[in-house]
Amino acid sequence: MKTDRSDILACLRNSADYVSGQQLCDRLGVSRTAVWKVINQLKEEGYRIESVPSRGYRLVESPADVYSESEIASRLHTKWAGQRLVFYESTGSTNPDAKRLAEEGAPHGTTVAADRQTAGRGRRGRSWESPAGSSVYFTIVVRPSFAPDKASMITLVMALSVAEAIHGMTGLDAGIKWPNDIVVNGKKVVGILTEMSMTPEMNEIQFLVAGVGVNVNQESAEAFPEEIRKTATSLKIESGQRFDRAELLAQILSRFENNYETFEETLTLNALKERYEARLIGKGAAVRVLDPAGEYTGISRGITGTGELIVEKETGETVLVYAGEVSVRGLYGYV
Ligand code: BTN
Repeated sequence: MKTDRSDILACLRNSADYVSGQQLCDRLGVSRTAVWKVINQLKEEGYRIESVPSRGYRLVESPADVYSESEIASRLHTKWAGQRLVFYESTGSTNPDAKRLAEEGAPHGTTVAADRQTAGRGRRGRSWESPAGSSVYFTIVVRPSFAPDKASMITLVMALSVAEAIHGMTGLDAGIKWPNDIVVNGKKVVGILTEMSMTPEMNEIQFLVAGVGVNVNQESAEAFPEEIRKTATSLKIESGQRFDRAELLAQILSRFENNYETFEETLTLNALKERYEARLIGKGAAVRVLDPAGEYTGISRGITGTGELIVEKETGETVLVYAGEVSVRGLYGYV
């Protein structure tokens, strides 16, 4: 939720020049005293704000990697994604938090973010290690009006949005391991867990939640639990640079909003497919499909307009692989 604090921070951040106290009052409809109080509070928290009589205030520097509701909200330029924002220093898992808010009627785009999760969840019943201070963990609520059979495409829309936000901010070559892991230099940096709630009649979607975990500022592989050390990495490890988590989250939400609206126009991935395939790892290469009904190998030929992976078997037969049922691996290693 936007607060005076995040609005003031946004006004200062978006202006290269001084913003007068009066301008802040007028724009936000708050009193001089309220502005003055927020400015003092921000200064106490380490924001360097210059105040010059007769000119106003100018944000000179923000403290490094402050991850808070106001930091995120003041960087958001979206219409609906993250406009209702709930931030926790620590929570069990943002997915059930988001589901609970959705049950209570929270609007489309409501986002729950946390600095730490004590019961982070991964796919296939696995856990998602979620210590404080280094990652982005968030879950967004979507309230679609489309049929349940379209729901799995939202995970691909999110994967594309996160990969593009990472590339845009870090310059790293963020690839997508179909359907929704984001991989940099052969190691996983992002996991996505999408869950769906149906109406009691089970014929319509009540809401979807898409939960995203991004490894951002972990300094070395030792930061990860032993069992994933060889396959996990962070943006810091791969680039040598630390990144502002609030900015990354704001950019992901903005890309997701745009990509979701594009998807909604046709309820297919047709308009996003080219960009998704440009990031798809192993297109044109051999993959092994771990299907419970029988494993097979083939060549990955990209995705369909509805998000299935196209695999051409050695026999020449083309198979469409549906997300959720199977895992797909390159012939060597994790990707
Ligand atoms: C995976 O197994 O790859 C999916 C991991 C999803 C992790 C994110 S972190 C935010 C949200 N809350 C959770 O408990 N899980 C998802």
